[in-house]
Amino acid sequence: MNITFTYLPGDGIGPEVGSAALAVLDAMAARFGHTIEAEHHLVGGAAIDAGHKPLPDESFASCERTGAILLGAVGGPKWDHLKGEDRPELGSLLPLRKRLNLYSNIRPCRPYPALLDRAPLKRDRLEGTDFVVMRELTGGIYFGDKGRDEQGAYDVCRYSEAEVERIAVKAFDLAMQRRKKVTSVDKSNVLETSRLWRETVIRVAARYPEVELEHLLVDAMTMHMLTRPTAFDVVLTENMFGDILTDEASVLAGSMGVIPSASLSDGRMGMFEPIHGSAPDIAGQGKANPIAMILSAAWMLRLSFGLDAEAASVEAAVEAALEAGEVTGDLGGALSTPEVGRAVAKRVA
Ligand code: NAD
Ligand code: IPM
Ligand code: MN
Repeated sequence: MNITFTYLPGDGIGPEVGSAALAVLDAMAARFGHTIEAEHHLVGGAAIDAGHKPLPDESFASCERTGAILLGAVGGPKWDHLKGEDRPELGSLLPLRKRLNLYSNIRPCRPYPALLDRAPLKRDRLEGTDFVVMRELTGGIYFGDKGRDEQGAYDVCRYSEAEVERIAVKAFDLAMQRRKKVTSVDKSNVLETSRLWRETVIRVAARYPEVELEHLLVDAMTMHMLTRPTAFDVVLTENMFGDILTDEASVLAGSMGVIPSASLSDGRMGMFEPIHGSAPDIAGQGKANPIAMILSAAWMLRLSFGLDAEAASVEAAVEAALEAGEVTGDLGGALSTPEVGRAVAKRVA
């Protein structure tokens, strides 16, 4: 088939990990007899530098048209002086998520056996860890009214019951296909939005009698995630908590560079991106780990195009490369970003 998607490399290491992922997709296409049409478009700081808005109309139109988006990362110190929607993050990534209604963001944490001794934490804590964070992506403090007044600054956190309900349903549906446990993370001892969150989750849970539900406060969760990570199956949480907890989860997985994500709506629309950012500290040096981006591309094959065998071949190639020690410096290896891309591509071929 012809696989047409929108490719938004963005900033910093985005284009570097993106090129590695495209090389892997090319190898996949050659092996399975597909053709790839990646519509390259500007986003974020790269778009600003070229004289456009952070999310140019053409880029957004391509996203709407293809319904499948592979995004690297946006932002960096060069654009940090910009305010509000002139910034790459607020002017491109958040509107992409909001305007395409990509409210459910899935971020997996299953440390690869090959990485158990490369991760910062002890092997005996990590073995058996296999959870997925279901992060609400289009509500909460990210999208509330924000601004400055005489006294200072404010960011309003709002959730409607419908917004909580639809992401809770996604989490319980996913739990039904997995180990049937949902851990809902909130701050209901302080926040009214979290109280609504918890009430709504309890109500949704009643429809899933087979699923075990537990509630944890987010501060305690940061500790439980590191001390007993094997206890979790589906972790359901709101936008900002999910952002923070998944960076923490990357420590279990071995590196920021290995966790992909899928952001989905109710329709066919999907955006796929690593959970990491533009990593300005290593950008332009060939040091970035492209695995998260390659796995994001694999998820796009599976979820946007229904290409299960193709996605599995990419995932197997990643695992084999990890086992062979073909990794970047963040995982203790000596390979560059394009070298890892080629190593995985070769195994796909
Ligand atoms: P970051 O995720 O870019 O980097 C955090 C740390 O992890 C850095 O030390 C970095 O070198 C390392 N790291 C990240 N990805 C890596 C990879 N693939 N391989 C090896 N090491 C990797 O977070 P940050 O430094 O806080 O943010 C930098 C910029 O990225 C900011 O402008 C931020 O807004 C933006 N950001 C964008 C996205 C996105 O576009 N989805 C996500 C997060 C951060
Ligand atoms: C992420 C990023 C974004 C977020 C930023 C860049 C807006 O950190 O995708 O994890 O906070 O959602
Ligand atoms: Mn983040």
